[in-house]
Amino acid sequence: MLSLWQRCSLIIGYWHHWLNAVNQHSLHAPFIYQFYQQVVCNRQSHSGFAAIEQYRKSLLKSEEDVSVQPMGAPSTVNTSSTRSVKSIARHSLSVPKFGRFLYNVVQFQQPKYIVELGTALGATTLYLSIADEQSTVYTLEGSTQIAEIASQAFADFHRQNIELIKGNIDDTLPQLLQKIPQVDLAYVDANHRLEPTLNYFSQLLAKTNEESILIFDDIHWSFGMRKAWKTIIQHPQVTLSIDVFDAGLVFFHPSAVKQHYYLKL
Ligand SMILES: C[S@@+](CC[C@H](N)C(=O)[O-])C[C@H]1O[C@@H](n2cnc3c(N)ncnc32)[C@H](O)[C@@H]1O
Repeated sequence: MLSLWQRCSLIIGYWHHWLNAVNQHSLHAPFIYQFYQQVVCNRQSHSGFAAIEQYRKSLLKSEEDVSVQPMGAPSTVNTSSTRSVKSIARHSLSVPKFGRFLYNVVQFQQPKYIVELGTALGATTLYLSIADEQSTVYTLEGSTQIAEIASQAFADFHRQNIELIKGNIDDTLPQLLQKIPQVDLAYVDANHRLEPTLNYFSQLLAKTNEESILIFDDIHWSFGMRKAWKTIIQHPQVTLSIDVFDAGLVFFHPSAVKQHYYLKL
């Protein structure tokens, strides 16, 4: 169950988004228009989507329990140190529509270095991975048994472009960022709290360039996450931000004016 504050945050976020969301008729700048057409409106299917959704179905039916290390914001569904795989699959994974959206982002941007913070059972990692064989998806997960299930799925899917990094992101992210030359695309879906989110942002920012895209999940999930999102979009290096309600995207193209959009997926 969501707390009263989380419900309030989600309702405020939803109404604000609903009132401000625009469509292609209001998108005059060429980049955002192109992004809307090629990423948001793109409903093309890929043969891999069905297999990923089959994997999700098998997780939803799983009778397995796993022990979880409490690292992120506390679950609103289960606070014990053991969780069923089916509960994680139901409550923690991004929905199929968002997976397809991320797939479109990768196809649009063609990033070389993708970083996912929070692998969970690996469903979204698979969407990121199949979109471009030339990219490498570095995905970070701290709960050992959850990471093992994801690792098995990556092997079953014969994915060669996924590197799963186990351990607390507080330790593994700085190590990864020392190893890779740049972050082209990051999907931040780990510790949904104000301070860790801002901390992830500042670490990732140091490795971005003008073409990079950072995506933050659950920006309306709590007042802390809303504050984190507001702080991120005000950063001087962020020139374009897009609120798609489930997540927020920030861009760093050189631009004379800051732009902020609300788009419906
Ligand atoms: C919301 S789930 C990720 C869902 C996944 N991105 C998807 O869409 O399929 C968040 C995951 O982040 C992991 N996590 C949270 N905080 C972490 C930390 N500090 N270090 C490592 N993993 C962390 C949790 O164990 C959990 O599996």
